[in-house]
Amino acid sequence: MSKQIEKIKELIAKREQARLGGGEKAIEKQHARGKYTARERIDMLVDEGSFEEYDMFKLHRCHNFGMEKKQYLGDGVVAGSATIDGRLVYVYAQDFTVNGGSLSETMSQKICKIMDMAMTMGAPVICMNDSGGARIQEGINALAGYGEIFERNILASGVIPQISGIFGPCAGGAVYSPALTDFTLMMENTSYMFLTGPKVVKSVTGEDVDSENLGGASVHATKSGVTHFTAKTEEEAMDMIKKLLSYIPSNNTEEAPRVACDDPINRMDDSLNDILPDDPNKAYDM
Ligand code: HXC
Repeated sequence: MSKQIEKIKELIAKREQARLGGGEKAIEKQHARGKYTARERIDMLVDEGSFEEYDMFKLHRCHNFGMEKKQYLGDGVVAGSATIDGRLVYVYAQDFTVNGGSLSETMSQKICKIMDMAMTMGAPVICMNDSGGARIQEGINALAGYGEIFERNILASGVIPQISGIFGPCAGGAVYSPALTDFTLMMENTSYMFLTGPKVVKSVTGEDVDSENLGGASVHATKSGVTHFTAKTEEEAMDMIKKLLSYIPSNNTEEAPRVACDDPINRMDDSLNDILPDDPNKAYDM
């Protein structure tokens, strides 16, 4: 076999391995929790065949706490460009099957790369978070990685749309960053947004609190206002993100997309006559 063919075979094998993220068992566990994997989520969101992945083989550089032996191709995030309804978008999805989707220095470099490209191209960034936040084993390097992401969230604000989907238990930076973006969508019953999880809360403060009350969709949609939308299934969540995108321009210099309207211009709706009461002191249903 020629050297080239050997290399191509190696490339194909590496791609297959990267597509497995944290491995088959971890994927089964993810599915058993009623959650899709990072790659399945991207496939559901973008136009078929449009996803162009970057840095598929990137590895972390941490040698603390035996992490040098815990290496997964792509390092826990799938990132790249794609189209949605034919419009260019940049997407990244954190992979909970790899170290709980936690953010390493190298993962932050992958994320920052697509954020920078989105700014250059004037295209939206859609992030799908499923992550325990900064990778504890990396200490300050992971925190610095989040610093880079937060800075880009701020610089992109008002320039390109930033949409965050929360698809699992998210802690620390995996929550602070979405909170800096324009729109946040949470999954009901399978996603959480908190500074840290219930077990850590219990060990640090002694307080018993479950995930839902600490940071479930019900809390953030009705009390804190952190999330704008909630969805019952991941399929519904993807449809909501696509619909949201269809209303907004790709950047601050473009117009919103225009679609042909098939609602007749002379359509009458008598129910509109009764919405506002005659008496201005009377309350009405907003
Ligand atoms: C490294 C992590 C991790 C993290 C989870 N894991 N979070 N590894 N760093 N931050 C790993 C777990 O060790 C485990 O690995 C796997 O991911 C799945 O986690 P579980 O705990 O088994 O899952 P679950 O019970 O669903 O709980 C998920 C969780 C919980 C709620 C996210 O893991 C948790 O509370 N993690 C700590 C979160 C935290 O304190 N993050 C804050 C980071 S500081 P194995 O190998 O056992 O499968 C931060 C600040 C940023 O982000 C500020 C920047 C300036």
